[in-house]
Amino acid sequence: MKDVTKDTILVHAGRDPRANHGIVNPPVYHCSTVLFPTLDALEEGDRNPHDIVNYGRIGTPTTFAFEKAAAELEGGYRSVNTGSGLAAIATALTAFTKTGDHVLITDSAYGPTRRFVKETLIPYGVEVEFFDPTVGAGISSLLKPNTSVVFLESPGSLTFEIQDVPAIAAAARTVGATVLLDNTWATPLFFRPFDHGVDVSIHAATKYMVGHADAMLGVVTCRDEALWTTVKKAATRFGTCAGPDDLFLGLRGLRTLAVRMRQHQESALILADWLAARPEVTRVLHPARADFPGHALWKRDFTGSSGLFSIVVKPAPRAALAAMLDDLELFGMGYSWGGFESLILPARPAAVRSATRWTDPGIVLRLHAGLEHPDDLIRDLDNAFRRFNDAL
Ligand SMILES: Cc1ncc(COP(=O)(O)O)c(C=O)c1O
Repeated sequence: MKDVTKDTILVHAGRDPRANHGIVNPPVYHCSTVLFPTLDALEEGDRNPHDIVNYGRIGTPTTFAFEKAAAELEGGYRSVNTGSGLAAIATALTAFTKTGDHVLITDSAYGPTRRFVKETLIPYGVEVEFFDPTVGAGISSLLKPNTSVVFLESPGSLTFEIQDVPAIAAAARTVGATVLLDNTWATPLFFRPFDHGVDVSIHAATKYMVGHADAMLGVVTCRDEALWTTVKKAATRFGTCAGPDDLFLGLRGLRTLAVRMRQHQESALILADWLAARPEVTRVLHPARADFPGHALWKRDFTGSSGLFSIVVKPAPRAALAAMLDDLELFGMGYSWGGFESLILPARPAAVRSATRWTDPGIVLRLHAGLEHPDDLIRDLDNAFRRFNDAL
Protein backbone atom coordinates (compact mmCIF):
# COMPACT_ATOMS: atom_id res chain seq x y z
CA MET A 1 0.00 0.00 0.00
CA LYS A 2 1.43 3.36 -1.00
CA ASP A 3 0.86 6.83 0.47
CA VAL A 4 -1.44 5.73 3.28
CA THR A 5 -1.08 6.33 7.00
CA LYS A 6 -0.23 3.62 9.49
CA ASP A 7 -3.82 3.64 10.77
CA THR A 8 -4.89 2.48 7.31
CA ILE A 9 -2.05 -0.03 6.93
CA LEU A 10 -3.18 -1.59 10.21
CA VAL A 11 -6.66 -2.22 8.86
CA HIS A 12 -5.63 -3.71 5.53
CA ALA A 13 -2.16 -5.28 5.87
CA GLY A 14 -1.89 -9.06 5.59
CA ARG A 15 -5.46 -9.48 4.30
CA ASP A 16 -6.40 -10.91 0.92
CA PRO A 17 -10.17 -11.62 0.92
CA ARG A 18 -10.18 -12.36 -2.81
CA ALA A 19 -7.93 -15.35 -2.19
CA ASN A 20 -10.28 -16.56 0.55
CA HIS A 21 -13.89 -16.63 -0.72
CA GLY A 22 -14.24 -12.92 0.11
CA ILE A 23 -13.91 -13.60 3.83
CA VAL A 24 -12.50 -10.51 5.52
CA ASN A 25 -9.94 -12.15 7.82
CA PRO A 26 -7.24 -14.63 6.76
CA PRO A 27 -8.08 -18.19 7.79
CA VAL A 28 -6.18 -19.92 10.61
CA TYR A 29 -4.23 -22.84 9.18
CA HIS A 30 -3.43 -25.54 11.73
CA CYS A 31 -0.62 -27.36 10.04
CA SER A 32 2.38 -29.58 10.41
CA THR A 33 2.40 -31.80 7.30
CA VAL A 34 1.98 -30.36 3.83
CA LEU A 35 1.33 -32.86 1.02
CA PHE A 36 2.99 -32.52 -2.38
CA PRO A 37 1.24 -33.99 -5.41
CA THR A 38 4.41 -34.77 -7.40
CA LEU A 39 8.15 -35.21 -6.94
CA ASP A 40 8.64 -31.99 -8.91
CA ALA A 41 6.45 -30.09 -6.42
CA LEU A 42 8.27 -31.63 -3.43
CA GLU A 43 11.66 -30.60 -4.85
CA GLU A 44 10.42 -27.11 -5.70
CA GLY A 45 9.27 -26.77 -2.07
CA ASP A 46 12.75 -27.73 -0.85
CA ARG A 47 14.40 -25.22 -3.16
CA ASN A 48 12.10 -22.42 -2.07
CA PRO A 49 11.06 -23.21 1.53
CA HIS A 50 10.45 -19.61 2.60
CA ASP A 51 7.90 -18.73 -0.04
CA ILE A 52 6.13 -22.02 -0.67
CA VAL A 53 4.09 -23.69 2.05
CA ASN A 54 6.42 -26.56 2.80
CA TYR A 55 6.12 -27.52 6.45
CA GLY A 56 4.12 -26.00 9.35
CA ARG A 57 7.14 -24.77 11.29
CA ILE A 58 8.61 -22.91 8.34
CA GLY A 59 5.53 -20.97 7.29
CA THR A 60 1.83 -21.19 6.49
CA PRO A 61 -0.60 -18.67 5.02
CA THR A 62 -1.40 -17.63 8.63
CA THR A 63 2.29 -17.03 9.34
CA PHE A 64 2.77 -15.13 6.11
CA ALA A 65 -0.26 -12.91 6.78
CA PHE A 66 1.02 -11.81 10.21
CA GLU A 67 4.60 -11.35 8.99
CA LYS A 68 3.48 -9.37 5.95
CA ALA A 69 1.42 -7.02 8.13
CA ALA A 70 4.26 -6.56 10.65
CA ALA A 71 6.84 -5.82 7.94
CA GLU A 72 4.58 -3.36 6.14
CA LEU A 73 3.81 -1.55 9.35
CA GLU A 74 7.43 -1.27 10.40
CA GLY A 75 8.63 -0.38 6.91
CA GLY A 76 11.10 -3.27 6.73
CA TYR A 77 11.97 -5.82 4.06
CA ARG A 78 10.29 -8.83 5.70
CA SER A 79 9.51 -10.29 9.15
CA VAL A 80 10.02 -13.56 11.02
CA ASN A 81 7.49 -14.72 13.61
CA THR A 82 8.49 -16.39 16.89
CA GLY A 83 6.63 -18.02 19.76
CA SER A 84 7.32 -15.16 22.23
CA GLY A 85 9.10 -11.84 22.47
CA LEU A 86 12.02 -13.46 24.26
CA ALA A 87 12.29 -16.07 21.50
CA ALA A 88 12.48 -13.19 18.99
CA ILE A 89 15.33 -11.59 20.99
CA ALA A 90 17.23 -14.87 21.49
CA THR A 91 16.83 -15.86 17.84
CA ALA A 92 17.98 -12.49 16.52
CA LEU A 93 20.93 -12.24 18.91
CA THR A 94 22.08 -15.75 18.05
CA ALA A 95 21.60 -15.27 14.32
CA PHE A 96 24.29 -12.56 14.21
CA THR A 97 26.73 -13.95 16.80
CA LYS A 98 29.36 -16.65 16.82
CA THR A 99 32.05 -17.80 19.23
CA GLY A 100 34.78 -15.17 19.56
CA ASP A 101 32.50 -12.22 18.79
CA HIS A 102 32.03 -9.20 21.02
CA VAL A 103 28.47 -8.07 21.70
CA LEU A 104 27.33 -4.79 23.26
CA ILE A 105 24.04 -4.75 25.20
CA THR A 106 22.31 -1.76 26.76
CA ASP A 107 22.34 -1.89 30.55
CA SER A 108 18.64 -1.00 30.54
CA ALA A 109 17.65 -4.17 28.66
CA TYR A 110 14.72 -6.31 29.77
CA GLY A 111 15.93 -8.72 32.52
CA PRO A 112 15.44 -11.98 30.59
CA THR A 113 17.39 -10.50 27.64
CA ARG A 114 20.32 -9.99 30.02
CA ARG A 115 19.87 -13.49 31.39
CA PHE A 116 19.93 -14.97 27.87
CA VAL A 117 23.22 -13.32 26.97
CA LYS A 118 24.81 -14.14 30.32
CA GLU A 119 23.66 -17.73 30.58
CA THR A 120 23.73 -18.73 26.90
CA LEU A 121 25.95 -16.46 24.79
CA ILE A 122 28.79 -16.12 27.32
CA PRO A 123 29.11 -19.90 27.93
CA TYR A 124 29.23 -20.31 24.12
CA GLY A 125 32.34 -18.12 24.00
CA VAL A 126 30.86 -14.73 23.17
CA GLU A 127 32.30 -11.67 24.92
CA VAL A 128 29.36 -9.65 26.24
CA GLU A 129 29.67 -6.07 27.46
CA PHE A 130 26.82 -4.00 28.91
CA PHE A 131 26.87 -0.25 28.24
CA ASP A 132 25.29 2.86 29.70
CA PRO A 133 22.05 3.44 27.73
CA THR A 134 22.81 7.17 27.59
CA VAL A 135 26.23 6.62 25.96
CA GLY A 136 25.19 7.99 22.52
CA ALA A 137 28.08 8.47 20.10
CA GLY A 138 30.41 7.59 22.98
CA ILE A 139 29.75 3.97 22.11
CA SER A 140 32.64 4.33 19.65
CA SER A 141 35.10 3.79 22.46
CA LEU A 142 33.48 0.42 23.28
CA LEU A 143 33.36 -0.95 19.74
CA LYS A 144 35.95 -3.52 18.71
CA PRO A 145 36.84 -4.98 15.31
CA ASN A 146 34.97 -8.16 16.34
CA THR A 147 31.83 -6.41 17.68
CA SER A 148 29.11 -8.25 15.78
CA VAL A 149 25.97 -6.93 17.50
CA VAL A 150 24.87 -3.79 19.31
CA PHE A 151 21.59 -4.47 21.11
CA LEU A 152 19.35 -1.55 22.07
CA GLU A 153 16.10 -1.22 23.95
CA SER A 154 14.75 2.31 23.82
CA PRO A 155 13.30 3.28 26.13
CA GLY A 156 14.39 0.65 28.64
CA SER A 157 11.20 -0.98 29.83
CA LEU A 158 11.83 -0.45 33.58
CA THR A 159 13.61 2.87 33.84
CA PHE A 160 12.84 4.40 30.42
CA GLU A 161 16.22 5.82 29.37
CA ILE A 162 15.97 6.94 25.74
CA GLN A 163 18.93 5.94 23.60
CA ASP A 164 20.45 8.07 20.85
CA VAL A 165 19.73 5.36 18.31
CA PRO A 166 21.00 7.21 15.17
CA ALA A 167 24.32 8.08 16.85
CA ILE A 168 24.83 4.54 18.16
CA ALA A 169 23.85 2.98 14.81
CA ALA A 170 26.22 5.27 12.88
CA ALA A 171 29.11 4.28 15.15
CA ALA A 172 28.21 0.57 14.96
CA ARG A 173 28.31 0.74 11.17
CA THR A 174 31.99 1.71 11.25
CA VAL A 175 32.91 -1.78 12.51
CA GLY A 176 30.20 -3.60 10.57
CA ALA A 177 28.15 -4.50 13.66
CA THR A 178 24.46 -5.29 13.24
CA VAL A 179 22.15 -3.02 15.26
CA LEU A 180 19.25 -4.78 16.96
CA LEU A 181 16.48 -2.84 18.71
CA ASP A 182 13.76 -4.03 21.05
CA ASN A 183 11.04 -1.64 19.84
CA THR A 184 8.21 -3.09 21.92
CA TRP A 185 7.47 0.03 24.00
CA ALA A 186 6.97 2.39 21.07
CA THR A 187 5.29 -0.12 18.73
CA PRO A 188 5.85 0.49 15.00
CA LEU A 189 3.49 3.47 15.37
CA PHE A 190 5.69 5.70 17.52
CA PHE A 191 9.25 4.85 16.46
CA ARG A 192 10.46 4.05 12.94
CA PRO A 193 13.59 1.94 13.51
CA PHE A 194 14.79 1.77 9.91
CA ASP A 195 14.70 5.57 9.57
CA HIS A 196 17.04 5.76 12.57
CA GLY A 197 19.75 3.34 11.41
CA VAL A 198 18.48 0.12 13.00
CA ASP A 199 19.06 -3.14 11.07
CA VAL A 200 16.75 -5.49 12.94
CA SER A 201 13.65 -4.47 14.90
CA ILE A 202 12.21 -6.79 17.50
CA HIS A 203 8.79 -6.78 19.13
CA ALA A 204 7.32 -8.73 21.96
CA ALA A 205 4.04 -8.86 20.03
CA THR A 206 2.66 -10.36 23.26
CA LYS A 207 2.29 -6.75 24.44
CA TYR A 208 0.58 -4.10 22.30
CA MET A 209 0.26 -6.00 19.02
CA VAL A 210 -1.79 -8.80 20.59
CA GLY A 211 -3.15 -6.19 23.00
CA HIS A 212 -5.43 -8.44 25.04
CA ALA A 213 -3.04 -10.31 27.40
CA ASP A 214 -4.03 -13.66 25.93
CA ALA A 215 -1.22 -14.83 23.63
CA MET A 216 2.57 -15.15 23.48
CA LEU A 217 4.07 -13.89 20.23
CA GLY A 218 7.25 -12.30 18.86
CA VAL A 219 8.28 -10.77 15.58
CA VAL A 220 11.64 -9.78 14.08
CA THR A 221 11.63 -7.38 11.14
CA CYS A 222 14.73 -6.79 9.04
CA ARG A 223 15.96 -3.89 6.98
CA ASP A 224 17.00 -5.99 3.96
CA GLU A 225 16.94 -9.43 2.40
CA ALA A 226 20.38 -10.56 3.62
CA LEU A 227 19.53 -9.73 7.25
CA TRP A 228 16.12 -11.38 6.92
CA THR A 229 17.60 -14.58 5.47
CA THR A 230 20.03 -14.79 8.39
CA VAL A 231 17.23 -14.43 10.96
CA LYS A 232 14.83 -16.73 9.11
CA LYS A 233 17.46 -19.48 8.87
CA ALA A 234 18.22 -19.16 12.60
CA ALA A 235 14.50 -19.29 13.46
CA THR A 236 14.13 -22.40 11.31
CA ARG A 237 17.14 -24.04 12.97
CA PHE A 238 15.80 -23.26 16.45
CA GLY A 239 12.20 -24.07 15.56
CA THR A 240 10.96 -20.91 17.26
CA CYS A 241 7.66 -20.61 15.37
CA ALA A 242 4.42 -19.33 16.90
CA GLY A 243 1.21 -21.35 16.94
CA PRO A 244 -1.52 -20.46 14.43
CA ASP A 245 -4.08 -19.26 16.96
CA ASP A 246 -1.60 -16.88 18.56
CA LEU A 247 -0.61 -15.55 15.13
CA PHE A 248 -4.27 -14.94 14.43
CA LEU A 249 -4.65 -13.07 17.73
CA GLY A 250 -1.61 -10.98 16.78
CA LEU A 251 -3.11 -10.15 13.43
CA ARG A 252 -6.48 -9.33 14.95
CA GLY A 253 -4.82 -7.15 17.59
CA LEU A 254 -3.07 -5.12 14.89
CA ARG A 255 -6.41 -3.95 13.47
CA THR A 256 -7.11 -1.87 16.58
CA LEU A 257 -3.53 -1.00 17.54
CA ALA A 258 -3.76 2.67 16.53
CA VAL A 259 -6.93 3.44 18.50
CA ARG A 260 -5.71 1.50 21.52
CA MET A 261 -2.33 3.24 21.49
CA ARG A 262 -3.92 6.68 21.38
CA GLN A 263 -5.88 5.83 24.53
CA HIS A 264 -2.94 4.15 26.32
CA GLN A 265 -0.85 7.23 25.56
CA GLU A 266 -3.45 9.71 26.75
CA SER A 267 -4.29 7.80 29.95
CA ALA A 268 -0.63 7.27 30.87
CA LEU A 269 0.07 10.99 30.52
CA ILE A 270 -2.95 11.86 32.68
CA LEU A 271 -1.81 9.39 35.35
CA ALA A 272 1.79 10.60 35.12
CA ASP A 273 0.72 14.24 35.66
CA TRP A 274 -1.42 13.29 38.63
CA LEU A 275 1.33 11.13 40.13
CA ALA A 276 3.95 13.87 39.66
CA ALA A 277 1.91 16.09 41.98
CA ARG A 278 1.66 13.48 44.75
CA PRO A 279 3.86 14.09 47.82
CA GLU A 280 4.64 10.35 48.04
CA VAL A 281 6.15 10.31 44.52
CA THR A 282 9.73 11.55 44.21
CA ARG A 283 10.13 10.98 40.44
CA VAL A 284 8.06 10.07 37.40
CA LEU A 285 9.99 8.18 34.72
CA HIS A 286 8.06 8.94 31.55
CA PRO A 287 9.94 9.95 28.37
CA ALA A 288 7.14 12.21 27.12
CA ARG A 289 7.31 14.43 30.22
CA ALA A 290 9.47 17.52 29.93
CA ASP A 291 11.09 16.78 33.33
CA PHE A 292 12.46 13.41 32.15
CA PRO A 293 16.21 13.43 31.36
CA GLY A 294 15.79 11.72 27.95
CA HIS A 295 12.87 13.90 26.91
CA ALA A 296 14.73 15.86 24.21
CA LEU A 297 15.79 12.65 22.43
CA TRP A 298 12.26 11.25 22.73
CA LYS A 299 10.88 14.44 21.20
CA ARG A 300 13.39 14.30 18.36
CA ASP A 301 12.90 10.64 17.40
CA PHE A 302 9.49 9.42 18.58
CA THR A 303 6.00 10.34 17.42
CA GLY A 304 4.18 9.20 20.54
CA SER A 305 4.40 7.38 23.84
CA SER A 306 2.79 4.23 25.11
CA GLY A 307 1.03 3.29 28.34
CA LEU A 308 4.08 2.03 30.24
CA PHE A 309 6.07 4.20 32.65
CA SER A 310 7.49 4.11 36.18
CA ILE A 311 7.37 6.17 39.33
CA VAL A 312 9.68 6.32 42.31
CA VAL A 313 7.89 6.42 45.65
CA LYS A 314 9.67 7.71 48.77
CA PRO A 315 11.39 4.95 50.79
CA ALA A 316 8.95 3.11 53.06
CA PRO A 317 8.70 -0.15 54.99
CA ARG A 318 7.52 -3.22 53.05
CA ALA A 319 4.28 -3.24 55.07
CA ALA A 320 3.34 0.18 53.67
CA LEU A 321 4.03 -1.02 50.12
CA ALA A 322 1.95 -4.14 50.74
CA ALA A 323 -0.90 -2.06 52.17
CA MET A 324 -0.78 0.06 49.02
CA LEU A 325 -0.67 -2.77 46.50
CA ASP A 326 -2.67 -5.59 48.08
CA ASP A 327 -6.09 -3.95 47.91
CA LEU A 328 -5.98 -2.27 44.52
CA GLU A 329 -9.30 -2.70 42.77
CA LEU A 330 -8.48 -1.88 39.15
CA PHE A 331 -4.70 -2.15 38.79
CA GLY A 332 -3.61 -5.77 38.62
CA MET A 333 -0.24 -6.80 39.98
CA GLY A 334 1.55 -8.94 37.44
CA TYR A 335 4.17 -9.25 34.74
CA SER A 336 3.84 -8.18 31.15
CA TRP A 337 2.00 -5.11 29.83
CA GLY A 338 0.41 -3.86 26.63
CA GLY A 339 -2.99 -5.43 27.22
CA PHE A 340 -6.30 -3.66 27.76
CA GLU A 341 -5.90 -3.76 31.54
CA SER A 342 -3.95 -1.58 33.95
CA LEU A 343 -1.04 -3.14 35.78
CA ILE A 344 1.39 -2.20 38.53
CA LEU A 345 4.64 -3.92 39.43
CA PRO A 346 7.34 -3.20 42.02
CA ALA A 347 10.76 -3.33 40.35
CA ARG A 348 14.37 -3.41 41.52
CA PRO A 349 16.51 -1.79 38.80
CA ALA A 350 19.61 -1.91 41.01
CA ALA A 351 19.57 -5.70 40.83
CA VAL A 352 19.66 -5.85 37.02
CA ARG A 353 22.48 -3.47 36.14
CA SER A 354 26.21 -3.80 35.73
CA ALA A 355 27.50 -0.93 33.55
CA THR A 356 25.61 1.73 35.47
CA ARG A 357 24.39 2.06 39.06
CA TRP A 358 20.84 2.64 40.20
CA THR A 359 21.22 4.50 43.49
CA ASP A 360 17.77 5.99 44.10
CA PRO A 361 16.66 4.70 47.54
CA GLY A 362 12.95 4.98 46.67
CA ILE A 363 10.55 2.26 45.61
CA VAL A 364 10.26 1.87 41.82
CA LEU A 365 6.77 0.98 40.64
CA ARG A 366 6.12 0.29 36.97
CA LEU A 367 2.63 1.14 35.79
CA HIS A 368 0.76 0.21 32.66
CA ALA A 369 -2.18 2.47 31.88
CA GLY A 370 -4.88 0.24 30.46
CA LEU A 371 -8.12 1.19 28.78
CA GLU A 372 -10.16 1.86 31.93
CA HIS A 373 -11.25 5.48 32.39
CA PRO A 374 -8.31 7.47 33.87
CA ASP A 375 -10.60 9.01 36.53
CA ASP A 376 -11.32 5.52 37.88
CA LEU A 377 -7.63 4.61 37.80
CA ILE A 378 -6.75 7.78 39.70
CA ARG A 379 -9.33 6.94 42.36
CA ASP A 380 -7.77 3.48 42.74
CA LEU A 381 -4.30 5.03 43.14
CA ASP A 382 -5.58 7.70 45.50
CA ASN A 383 -7.00 5.00 47.79
CA ALA A 384 -3.72 3.09 47.50
CA PHE A 385 -1.71 6.11 48.69
CA ARG A 386 -4.13 6.56 51.58
CA ARG A 387 -3.45 2.98 52.70
CA PHE A 388 0.30 3.54 52.17
CA ASN A 389 0.28 6.64 54.41
CA ASP A 390 -1.86 4.96 57.08
CA ALA A 391 0.67 2.11 57.28
CA LEU A 392 3.71 4.39 57.71
C1 LIG B 1 10.75 -4.90 26.57
C2 LIG B 1 10.40 -6.35 26.51
N1 LIG B 1 10.94 -7.10 25.55
C3 LIG B 1 10.67 -8.42 25.44
C4 LIG B 1 9.82 -9.03 26.32
C5 LIG B 1 9.59 -10.51 26.21
O1 LIG B 1 8.35 -10.79 25.64
P1 LIG B 1 7.61 -12.17 25.93
O2 LIG B 1 7.06 -12.08 27.30
O3 LIG B 1 6.60 -12.25 24.84
O4 LIG B 1 8.63 -13.26 25.80
C6 LIG B 1 9.22 -8.29 27.34
C7 LIG B 1 8.28 -8.94 28.29
O5 LIG B 1 7.87 -8.39 29.28
C8 LIG B 1 9.52 -6.91 27.44
O6 LIG B 1 9.00 -6.15 28.43
